[in-house]
Amino acid sequence: MERSGRVRKGIVLAGGAGTRLYPLTEVTSKQLLPVYDKPMVYYPLATLISGGISDILLISTPRDLPRFREVLGDGSRFGIALSYVEQPRPEGIAQSFILGRDFIADQAVCLILGDNLFYGEMDPFFEALAHTEGATIFGYPVRDPQRYGVIELDGHGRPVSIEEKPAHPRSSLAVPGLYVYDGRVCDFALELRPSARGELEITDLNRAYMAEGTLRVGRLGRGTAWLDTGTPESLHAASTFVATIEQRQSVKIGCPEEAALRQGLISPDDMLTRLANMPATDYRAYVEGVCRELAGGR
Ligand code: G1P
Repeated sequence: MERSGRVRKGIVLAGGAGTRLYPLTEVTSKQLLPVYDKPMVYYPLATLISGGISDILLISTPRDLPRFREVLGDGSRFGIALSYVEQPRPEGIAQSFILGRDFIADQAVCLILGDNLFYGEMDPFFEALAHTEGATIFGYPVRDPQRYGVIELDGHGRPVSIEEKPAHPRSSLAVPGLYVYDGRVCDFALELRPSARGELEITDLNRAYMAEGTLRVGRLGRGTAWLDTGTPESLHAASTFVATIEQRQSVKIGCPEEAALRQGLISPDDMLTRLANMPATDYRAYVEGVCRELAGGR
């Protein structure tokens, strides 16, 4: 396990049956549905890339994985390396670390859920990526914490309890689907036992780090939008949110090409060459604009 440096590896978990979105998900993956002007998976991908993570594993179902390959390829057009692993059955978020064991290879890794959308102030996330020992999760105040993992902190901001979808939440701090772990995460995951719903729970994994005293909690606050997209209402709300900001400011949210360009993972010239194959859309014009900006206004 590396002792210093930054987290360089990331996993996007894009599994599940998307049951709450049926019939939208009858023949396609939830994480490929549109959120305004791009597929949902672009958003978590852009979040990882914006943290400088360029070696990414995508996990999905046997049915949907081929589609993700078609959409995202080997990642080279984003300046990243993308690989793929199947999750044969929906056996929990923490199973990612067992399925991704070879990819992780005892290195620190960041996991993001394929249906979690972040926008705005993300410094706590970038800071977390500087830690390659222990784990970092995040706390985000919400109105309906019982729908999520819920974290309770003591007066010093240290975690004292984490519960998965508690009927009576001990705090209003939900745990978003964004997690950073050290290189021991596969060993911790292998120790987990399935919960009553038959899944390896991410909350149990976080509890293991908490019990060891190595779980940090970053605070994401009012400067950050954390949206989830699991129901028709929340999917629509996320689309509206993205459309509002994009139209008002002429920026794009969740654009992996832009994130990679700004991180220096791909040069403007290389990106422009690749864009030649893209249909002439607003999206392409936007990425071309970022290339010109970074190349010094050429
Ligand atoms: C999962 C996790 C939960 C977390 C949530 C974030 O819930 O189990 O702890 O707060 O993702 O989106 P699920 O999406 O399985 O309902």
